[in-house]
Amino acid sequence: MVPTVCWHEGAIRLLDQSRLPEHVEILECRDVESVARAIRELKVRGAPAIGVTAAMGVALGAQLSEAENYFQLENDLSGVCELLAATRPTAVNLFWAIERMKRTLHELRSQPLSAIKTGLVRESQSILEEDIALCKAMGRHGARLIEDGQTILTHCNAGALATAGYGTALGVVRAAWEEGKRIQVIADETRPVLQGARLTAWELMQDGIPVTLITDGMAGIMMRQGKVQLCIVGADRIAANGDVANKIGTYSVAVLARAHGIPFYVAAPYSTIDLKTPSGNDIAIEQRNPQEVTTMLGDRIIAPKGVSVYNPAFDVTPAEFIAGIITERGVFRPHEVLRHFS
Ligand code: MRU
Repeated sequence: MVPTVCWHEGAIRLLDQSRLPEHVEILECRDVESVARAIRELKVRGAPAIGVTAAMGVALGAQLSEAENYFQLENDLSGVCELLAATRPTAVNLFWAIERMKRTLHELRSQPLSAIKTGLVRESQSILEEDIALCKAMGRHGARLIEDGQTILTHCNAGALATAGYGTALGVVRAAWEEGKRIQVIADETRPVLQGARLTAWELMQDGIPVTLITDGMAGIMMRQGKVQLCIVGADRIAANGDVANKIGTYSVAVLARAHGIPFYVAAPYSTIDLKTPSGNDIAIEQRNPQEVTTMLGDRIIAPKGVSVYNPAFDVTPAEFIAGIITERGVFRPHEVLRHFS
């Protein structure tokens, strides 16, 4: 599969997710503004992938800086970090990655500028490689929850496309599939941006993993008909009390799963756990352009002009609805997150 994000000869290459599945196109970002735009416009999306891209954005900013000493470079990069941090508010991986790059910059402060710049590229590459390793570890732990023959419902895209590779929720599915379990996935289309239809269905089909696409409103009846044994989703931010922010519609899936006695799991790495945020009520929820709702992917108007629209990109699922959080360290009850990750 084409990598979601990579560093290539002084530029950042992104698989343009706004064009999938119709067009498989690579977007090359040669300046920090285009990296910020790509994140804002969902050309790259998914919490871990945004984090990796932002880290590479900081490295790119360093390469382009004309600073003549460390303090000028630090000043240039503080502007770069501010620009990248202002792109999307909910996924904590973005802020986590920016902070990690700032820390690396500080650690390298006594080195010559050229070594600092190389060190920042190296650090962003480590974040990318670490992300893939974390996904594979989550996969190993989470696969134990899946039995042969089961059908897993997922919402949005928490796959290779949402990470540096392999995926969180879909990483668990992938690991179970690689173990030889005959499983199937039901992908919610995920209105309004259709990450489930455009990305999850595409990604799973690339790997030959059986997937059935449904509209969001169909999840309930499929559960009632006994067609779903497990729900696994990703996360954009997990608060200290185990509440989880994820793509809008996730909460509805969790409530439906509870009503039908189906276990609902969240898969996420440590970089998604935000112990500084006490509960889901404290998570900033991104509000997006009403046009995402009033048009079909911007091409076709599907609502009367001037209609009032509410378009939060994420919702919060309270910890009590979550059977477990699948992490690289194991599967924990949501209220145990604080103990295992502080
Ligand atoms: O708006 P998006 O597409 O960035 O939202 C992505 C999600 O909500 C994913 O489920 C989440 O980031 C987990 S990705 C491993």
